[in-house]
Amino acid sequence: MVLIFLTVIVGCLSFEPSAVSTEEPREVLIIYTGNLLAELKPCGCAKEEDQGGIERRMQYLKDTRKTHSHTLLVDTGDHFKEPTRQGKLKAETLLTATEKMKYDAVALGDRDLVYGSQFLQDWTQIPWMAGNLMINQFEPARSRVKKFSNGLKVGILAVADPDLFYDHVDLQIKDPKHTVSNLIKHMRETEEPDLIVLLTHANKETALTYLNMDGVDIVINGHIVTESDVIDMAPVQKNGKLFVQSSSRGQKMGELRVQIGPDGIKSFKQNLVKLDSSVNFDSEMVKLYEQYNEKVEAMFFEALAGKRSKKKQFIYAGETVCKNCHPTEHKVWSESRHGKAYNTLRKINKAFDPECLVCHVVGYNLDGGFISELDTPGLKNVQCEVCHGPGLNHASSPQAGFGNRAAQACKQCHLKNHSPRFNFAKYWPKIIH
Ligand code: HEC
Ligand code: HEC
Ligand code: HEC
Ligand code: HEC
Repeated sequence: MVLIFLTVIVGCLSFEPSAVSTEEPREVLIIYTGNLLAELKPCGCAKEEDQGGIERRMQYLKDTRKTHSHTLLVDTGDHFKEPTRQGKLKAETLLTATEKMKYDAVALGDRDLVYGSQFLQDWTQIPWMAGNLMINQFEPARSRVKKFSNGLKVGILAVADPDLFYDHVDLQIKDPKHTVSNLIKHMRETEEPDLIVLLTHANKETALTYLNMDGVDIVINGHIVTESDVIDMAPVQKNGKLFVQSSSRGQKMGELRVQIGPDGIKSFKQNLVKLDSSVNFDSEMVKLYEQYNEKVEAMFFEALAGKRSKKKQFIYAGETVCKNCHPTEHKVWSESRHGKAYNTLRKINKAFDPECLVCHVVGYNLDGGFISELDTPGLKNVQCEVCHGPGLNHASSPQAGFGNRAAQACKQCHLKNHSPRFNFAKYWPKIIH
């Protein structure tokens, strides 16, 4: 586990000492996540990206709660990714995990309406929060106060930036700053919280401006556009307040240790905990992931009937045909990792997952491409035609100049999250033929 420390001591803001007054500073540990994009488990394509996942997150939470008695767990939104059937299955699995992890607040972001408001409504066990989103048929909490046994009261608010949303029939968005001032005013009159944490869903620049608002002590921001976005997680300190951002796809856990002295002085200490292979898997989450995997497998087999009945296009020859005339190239290829890419999936029980097959076989989801090992045994692995293009015509009437744009193909699959070290000049020599 890699820990990155930062300590910020800040001055007192006009602070009312609360009824329970002790000599010792009281402490709460705020744990924050966001931008999960329904990622349940890292794909494992590249070691350095092998971080996060529900199995490690749960283990981390159990361990952390054992050593810290007063914890607040929040999420800044963008839980979901694509509006597909598999996307929804991931979303449901993620929310089951979120429920078991016992979050205190789960903010809504611009991606969280992809399955409609009914979907959110169906997950009432999740402590959804959105101060300024007026959603048809669905009422998230507008604010929340958590009281700890050491007497501390932490107020939590969440708002989203209207500019991030497309026109949506089910949705009206109120001015976020107005919303925050009104909610803080109300909260101070009724609950008198010792600390106010604002979850924002906005671009960094916009979110930073909330530090200027009276009453806000901590701003935790999240928002992600693509899964390979690089997020600046360095904390920003301003006017004795703290701003932080959640990591991408649950790779790192944010920790904010807040101490409030008897004199009302607040001090913050920020930590990032990388959920890498040094964190064990929680067995309950391992089971949950297995159940998800079984459902994906069932979906894969269900979809086969439709794919089989479609009129087939024959455009790929398959590597065994190429081998007849290009045996030297074929030998190099078959010994390369491209020649074993399907087996890589099979070894980890993933050879039925469409999200993996796209890059580990020939033409998955394309006309004439891989359907299943049984239907298209000749199109397993990252073959010649993935790079050189469909070659059935070439194989029957070969011509020079065929497939000469192969070097352009790499970036289809050697994408940032799956191959962060990719560099053509370094990779091509490893498979040169
Ligand atoms: C029947 C034999 C035959 C088969 C089968 C065959 N090729 Fe070829 N291929 C050739 C010949 C002949 C050339 C032209 C060589 C030349 O003139 O330099 C060629 C050229 C190529 C070239 C371009 C090389 C250049 O210098 O222009 C590529 C790439 C290629 N083949 C890939 C494939 C792939 C991939 C397959 C399988 C889908 C395949 N070939 C199947 C015979 C074949
Ligand atoms: C269809 C997707 C796809 C395309 C296109 C693709 N690759 Fe790959 N590549 C993979 C996969 C998947 C692996 C890992 C296979 C495994 O180990 O199971 C891989 C592995 C490799 C490796 C081995 C890495 C190592 O560290 O040993 C090299 C080298 C490589 N690719 C180079 C290239 C180059 C160069 C191109 C373009 C000319 C390219 N690849 C195009 C999917 C692709
Ligand atoms: C966008 C394309 C892409 C997708 C999608 C993809 N992979 Fe990969 N995978 C790659 C590439 C490229 C490599 C080789 C990376 C490298 O070495 O630079 C690879 C390598 C791997 C490896 C080999 C790691 C090793 O070092 O031996 C495993 C395991 C793997 N992928 C599993 C998966 C699983 C599981 C999924 C689905 C959850 C998946 N991949 C989805 C492109 C992809
Ligand atoms: C990962 C992508 C990739 C795969 C897989 C691949 N090739 Fe290539 N191949 C290339 C690239 C890149 C070149 C270099 C020529 C170029 O820059 O276009 C090349 C070159 C060639 C050439 C020589 C062309 C020449 O100009 O001399 C032949 C023939 C060829 N490949 C055939 C095959 C065959 C047959 C297979 C499968 C057994 C195969 N390739 C698999 C990417 C690939």
